[in-house]
Amino acid sequence: MPQVVRYTREDNIGVITIDYPPVNAMGHPVRAGLMEALQQGQGDVRASVLLLVCEGRTFIAGADIREFGKPIQAPWLTEVVDALENTDKPVVAAIHGTALGGGLETALGCHYRLALASARLGLPEVKLGLLPGAGGTQRLPRLTGAEAALDMITTGRFVPADEALSLGIVDRVAEGTDPKAAGLAYARELAEQNAAVRRVREREDRLAGDRGSDIFARFRASVEKKAKGQFAPFRCVDAVEAAFTLPFEEGLKRERELFSQCMESPQRAGLIHAFFAEREVAKVKGLSRDTPVRDVQKVGIIGAGTMGGGIAMNFANAGLPVTIVEVAQEALDKGLGVIRRNYENSAKKGRISQQQVEERMALIHGSLSYEDLREADLVIEAVFEDMAIKKEIFGTLDKVCKPGAILASNTSTLDIDEIASVTSRPEDVVGMHFFSPANVMKLLENVRGSATSDEVKATVMALAKKIGKVGVMVGNCYGFVGNRMLHKRGAEATALVDEGATPQQVDKVLTDLGYPMGQFAMSDLAGIDVGYRIRQERRKAGEDIPPSWMDKLAEQGRLGQKTGAGVYRYEEGSRTPVPDPEVDRLIAEFRQEQGITPREISDQEILERCMYVMINEGAKILEEGIADRPLDIDIVWIYGYGFPAWRGGPMFWADQIGLDRILGTVKGYRDSVGGEQWQPAVLLEKLVAEGKGFADL
Ligand SMILES: NC(=O)c1ccc[n+]([C@@H]2O[C@H](COP(=O)([O-])OP(=O)(O)OC[C@H]3O[C@@H](n4cnc5c(N)ncnc54)[C@H](O)[C@@H]3O)[C@@H](O)[C@H]2O)c1
Repeated sequence: MPQVVRYTREDNIGVITIDYPPVNAMGHPVRAGLMEALQQGQGDVRASVLLLVCEGRTFIAGADIREFGKPIQAPWLTEVVDALENTDKPVVAAIHGTALGGGLETALGCHYRLALASARLGLPEVKLGLLPGAGGTQRLPRLTGAEAALDMITTGRFVPADEALSLGIVDRVAEGTDPKAAGLAYARELAEQNAAVRRVREREDRLAGDRGSDIFARFRASVEKKAKGQFAPFRCVDAVEAAFTLPFEEGLKRERELFSQCMESPQRAGLIHAFFAEREVAKVKGLSRDTPVRDVQKVGIIGAGTMGGGIAMNFANAGLPVTIVEVAQEALDKGLGVIRRNYENSAKKGRISQQQVEERMALIHGSLSYEDLREADLVIEAVFEDMAIKKEIFGTLDKVCKPGAILASNTSTLDIDEIASVTSRPEDVVGMHFFSPANVMKLLENVRGSATSDEVKATVMALAKKIGKVGVMVGNCYGFVGNRMLHKRGAEATALVDEGATPQQVDKVLTDLGYPMGQFAMSDLAGIDVGYRIRQERRKAGEDIPPSWMDKLAEQGRLGQKTGAGVYRYEEGSRTPVPDPEVDRLIAEFRQEQGITPREISDQEILERCMYVMINEGAKILEEGIADRPLDIDIVWIYGYGFPAWRGGPMFWADQIGLDRILGTVKGYRDSVGGEQWQPAVLLEKLVAEGKGFADL
């Protein structure tokens, strides 16, 4: 086994090499090895400059996630960084790949830094509810001044090498792919010049300009807007500010205190849960890791509407050719036009180049004929939510598509088995449920039918990864995991308005919890007609769905943002919901028709009825095996509906509240509000009886 950290010498340069695959994470063997190698370098009289470099694909890419949640073994990272900085020979870090978190903090302990042009640097601790705790908040501003340090530390943003150079984080950028060669050349130059030891902790020049400025107040205000309700970003600002108000050693102490506060915060626990859950969902229960995956090179999409267009963009972005089939030329032209506009907007914002716009558009072909899908390896249907239409389409696909092609539906609610039943190959049929806007939202809910083959399941999970989504495999039932829970929340939210709440009151409770938008602002975004069509379908199927004021909106053509008015009103060109007295009148009229006397409704009742109804439904979903694990539900909600990751997802959050308390409240609403949605899930009762939580499943 190669040594994790080794010391060698090339002429007068002492070389410390870290070799800890896969990403040279800052685990205990690296920390201990670094201390030892550093001592060797210090004592090596023939080495005048020391070079720190990593083997493999990257510089130290952060903490070792295997150590999360375990007691840290000495030496601590802070000791290692201090030891590097206190060395009395110049130490040079040569960075390639990514220098992240503790990796960048280690580089900041070195006296000189070189990065390959392809390298990226960042302090992403905030994304896990933390702040850089090994001096990063004190050293970075000493190189960059307040603005850049605050930006990088409060957002966790990665900066490319050239930006790192202009910000003063690195001293030199080198071309090429060999960090050791570039590092050695730089180290030799420094040795020749008799370059001095240069400790970041001693630098004061970049601090002076920002002392006493209003920049910290400005950042707190911006964090308040962008990261409302979150704990760590504010502590990040506090820590960076300490670099400007306290001497270095005291600043470090302050950093340590703030770091501990973050460690103890429940938000940190939520974010860590979300972090591991995201990795865990890729492992599908009962699906062996070596299940063969079908090769998907060509994609077909049916329907160039809201979803079809966004779905097509995902595949074109990944370099796969896409054929979109529509019923009429006009709809096709409109759909392709929207796709182009979306790409042009990304180009305007500098996210992609004009050339990429053209390359991606060239991968997307429109057609009015199913014949053009003969070569497709995967076809995703995204037409109206209507079972009869979908069955007709799958009948056609069965005739047209080549053997082995995967036939997927983007349906939000409908029965995948019923759709598959019209084909001669139900083993190739699967749900691929994207979320709107499909080119943006990270979730892909893959729905297994009762006949879906393992190969098809494995392929759609792999495809999710390929197009940059988080795939979650779920079972087939009305609404699957996400919408089944959402529709319970929606019905409860609508009922709360029937009973006396306003839509804005309901939405505010949800945004205060941390959702980016409330129930009704979301309905306006998705289109009021979407839910209306679903309710009408279910009424047609004989279900007892009571009338609601939301139906009235749809019937009046108030379809949401797309018509400028829905539950809220929208100014021309704006997406900001504005409460509308027209809607208040419509609601009042509805209450009168139904003989409802409105009452005062508390925020607590809104929170419980909107959220606990979802948790109860989530428990039923688990009990029925629709979701494999509570963490699958958590990921669906974090990536599909913007549930705040720092609360860990609805099921994790439920454990934090306490399932006994939730069950008690659910029973209370069963007795006062009634309805099957308030029948406690058997699993919930069982867990409470056993004194367990969802995490114990
Ligand atoms: N809008 C959402 O937020 C959302 C989210 C997830 C899933 N979905 C699901 O995606 C599907 C599509 O929804 P949407 O919002 O994109 O609808 P949409 O009305 O925007 O688009 C549907 C498109 O399908 C076309 N079409 C209809 N019949 C066709 C046929 N036989 N052959 C080819 N094209 C046909 C229509 O011309 C239209 O352009 C639905 O099943 C819906 O439930 C929607």
